[in-house]
Amino acid sequence: MNLLDMVDEALSPVGEAFRNPLRLLFLIAFDRLKVAEVGNPVIHHVVVLRHAILLALAEDLSPLVLGGAALTHDSAPVEKVRTADVEAQIDQGAAQRLERRRVQCRILHMREGAAMGMRLMAYVNQVTDNELFSRDVVERVFSINCVHDDPTIGHPLPDEPDYHAFRAADRLWQLAEGFSLDLERNRSHARWAQLSEHDLAAKHLADLKRNYAAERQLYPATASGFFGSTMLRSSAAFRLYSELVQKRSIEYGLGTVA
Ligand SMILES: [Fe+2]
Ligand SMILES: [Fe+2]
Repeated sequence: MNLLDMVDEALSPVGEAFRNPLRLLFLIAFDRLKVAEVGNPVIHHVVVLRHAILLALAEDLSPLVLGGAALTHDSAPVEKVRTADVEAQIDQGAAQRLERRRVQCRILHMREGAAMGMRLMAYVNQVTDNELFSRDVVERVFSINCVHDDPTIGHPLPDEPDYHAFRAADRLWQLAEGFSLDLERNRSHARWAQLSEHDLAAKHLADLKRNYAAERQLYPATASGFFGSTMLRSSAAFRLYSELVQKRSIEYGLGTVA
């Protein structure tokens, strides 16, 4: 399936009033998303869009806000250093330096992506001579984009459902189409070169599950509304998570994973 067909499929659960602006946003953002592939491939945004629309409908949130964030949040061409890249360092000093760079890159990536998102939505409004993205929607997308990776650098998100729904949509990429891409990247690290295909996949899935649980620790232990000892805040997000864990387990022959 080509990317535009994937966008249309992701948007199929919502009506024309949401499909049209988001489809236009993807087309207008495409060139920026290509430039930003140093961080994430274009398909990342389309997969996040698929999850974002499902969660918006399940949680009665704005498809335009979650969809707008999905298509713009990683639009800044800033290098992405993954936690796994830091962990792969054998030398302690090199690991510390890479960790500092990881945090700096991530902050720049969020702030620049948020500004770029505003610009892209303004372009949609401009070419259609219509306020398809209202000021309120643009401001909300900006706010979400500004902090969307904050938990990755140790900061909790605001206690509001759309921030958390978007975080889930974004993270679930790692268990969907992103799984094989990250696995490929892990394979290139000398530290894990000795692991078999099966063991590398098992380690990667276990790491991802551990990360979901670790992110829950950013929030007070007494806070309610978290599902399955993960940071996921809705039953819909946890259902998607469980389905994807199961799919990857079957795909890589890892046995049944709860
Ligand atoms: Fe990001
Ligand atoms: Fe993302």
